[in-house]
Amino acid sequence: MFKRTHTCGQLRLSDAEKKVTLAGWVHSYRDHGGLVFIDLRDREGLTQLVFNPETQGEAHELARTARCEWVVSAQGVVRPRSEGMENPKLATGQIEVVVEKLEVLNTSKTPPFEIDGAEKTAEELRLTHRYLDLRRPEVQQKLKVRHRVTKLARDYFDSLGFWEIETPMLAKSTPEGARDFLVPSRLCSNSFYALPQSPQLFKQILMVGGVDKYFQIVRCFRDEDPRADRQAEFTQIDVEMSFIDTDDIITVNENLVVRVWKDILDVDVTSPMRRMSYKDAMDDYGTDRPDLRFDMKLKDISEIASKSTFKVFASVIENGGVVKGLCATGGGKYSRSDIEKGFTAFAGDYGAKGLAWFKVKAEDGKLTLASSIAKFFTAEQLAEIIKTFGAKDGDLILLVADDEKTANKALAALRCKLAKDLELYDENSFEFVWIVDFPMLEWNEDEKRYDSLHHPFTAAVPEDLDKLESDPGNICSQAYDIVVNGSEIGGGSIRIHNPKVQQKVFDLLNISREQAEERFGFFLKALEYGAPPHGGIAFGLDRMVMLLTGTENIRDVIAFPKTQRGQCLMSDAPSEVDQKQLDELNLRTQKHSHTAEKIDEQKQS
Ligand code: AMO
Ligand code: AMP
Repeated sequence: MFKRTHTCGQLRLSDAEKKVTLAGWVHSYRDHGGLVFIDLRDREGLTQLVFNPETQGEAHELARTARCEWVVSAQGVVRPRSEGMENPKLATGQIEVVVEKLEVLNTSKTPPFEIDGAEKTAEELRLTHRYLDLRRPEVQQKLKVRHRVTKLARDYFDSLGFWEIETPMLAKSTPEGARDFLVPSRLCSNSFYALPQSPQLFKQILMVGGVDKYFQIVRCFRDEDPRADRQAEFTQIDVEMSFIDTDDIITVNENLVVRVWKDILDVDVTSPMRRMSYKDAMDDYGTDRPDLRFDMKLKDISEIASKSTFKVFASVIENGGVVKGLCATGGGKYSRSDIEKGFTAFAGDYGAKGLAWFKVKAEDGKLTLASSIAKFFTAEQLAEIIKTFGAKDGDLILLVADDEKTANKALAALRCKLAKDLELYDENSFEFVWIVDFPMLEWNEDEKRYDSLHHPFTAAVPEDLDKLESDPGNICSQAYDIVVNGSEIGGGSIRIHNPKVQQKVFDLLNISREQAEERFGFFLKALEYGAPPHGGIAFGLDRMVMLLTGTENIRDVIAFPKTQRGQCLMSDAPSEVDQKQLDELNLRTQKHSHTAEKIDEQKQS
């Protein structure tokens, strides 16, 4: 094999006359009867190779047999491309290499899809042959960005005195709220490890252990249904610090984000980033992860609506619901059927029972509202609606009457859909916000108990501590989420370091003393031995890389991702295992236990 002297993305006009060796994959080949051209690909780019039958007969003959994805190395001389043959789209587009010697290092079966047109190939096929998919420049670019983000994070935290410390993967269940992946233990029969949903308890115990500043780029496992931005196995940049307050954590971690965006995208993120209370986010955007690239705030018009004669609105309000809505700039262009087919059905997917609309029109210099339900409103009420939304000619007002939670959910989703359809924002811009002042607890009507909005180790603001008994629903926590363009890329909190307070919170969550002891006894015990005040955060690395590479599919930023059903199509995991393995673990699968039952039955009869 000839050792390569350059990569396929490296050679320029200034390299003309140099003798070089390249190695890579045959990206494409063209046989012009006389000359043969091969575009050779490696991680860094493409270079055009030329084979001339008159001067290099042997290499030319061999080149004629080469096929896509064969692995070759080629020795030759760089020359400028002839006039008119340059390719401005390629970094190496000014030159070509006239090959003198060619060596075939490996052949390849005909790939099931073309690397070049792979974005048109079904994702399933690409994931089944991920090794081919990984050869695509778009995929490699994303892996490279991911590498650079982790490298930046490591260097950044190291420079501030943080230590990267690994925590167990075979661990005990932690309460991040999702289902655990369990691993049966061979040595302790009938016992299971849980793969960590996050290193939450361990990183807090590291603080009790005097580590002071910890970070880890760590895999987390949550057995929940995957979504566009959610995988069962994902990666966090996990951070914990002692003797700090919320501002310290926000500053340290915000600075990382600023660096990452500058280094990867050359984007200057405004810092300090804005902060918004949970309440304002819910009121104005219907969600705690608002996309702030566009305005379109939600407005509550319950008061006006309650005075109208529209029965749907009146009855919803009577039953404690709200009438909330939004005004989409330029949305007046949608036809009635656009609205019904496009938006009513969409809002329905989020639980809205209907969607009322008004088109804003200017008539004789005055704004009016056109709608099938306008007749239920007086002229003053309509004027009031226009004023509340600050509506202009050509806008579309959409209203949902429902309980507040449903109305918010449907409108938050509609808001993003409309802004995208109406192109109300710059796709390449980034709007960051810290969401703060979360309630610590949320009432769970089904279970008749409180749930943690974050996790049960989140501290309350000191002034609300006395509400633990009197008014738990109104305790404000010291939690914070960082949101960009509607995506939550991180979240954390100041933790409870007082074991008595921690116990009280477990009581409110209806976690019995026995349960608490059984599940987190080790942790509660640690808190009793001088736990320092501490807090932290975890970033979703996959989501960060999604934003940095402009993809909406989390699988694009993971080298070996899983499908919606949690399968790895390439290696075919999960899969059945040998009976011997099950026996060692003292496990029976349902399939096997059915067979076992049948055998038992047969034995008995
Ligand atoms: P949380 O559960 O909010 O906090 O997770 C932190 C961040 O991780 C990302 N994330 C995910 N990314 C991809 N797929 C998933 N299934 C997934 N789940 C979460 C999100 C999220 O903001 N221990 C706490 C952090 C702390 O309090 O310090 C925790 O795990 O971007
Ligand atoms: P209806 O009287 O059911 O024909 O509804 C008249 C209009 O009100 C239609 O545009 C419905 O989509 C809308 N509508 C019905 N229920 C609701 C609701 N809960 N919230 C908002 N609009 C509604």
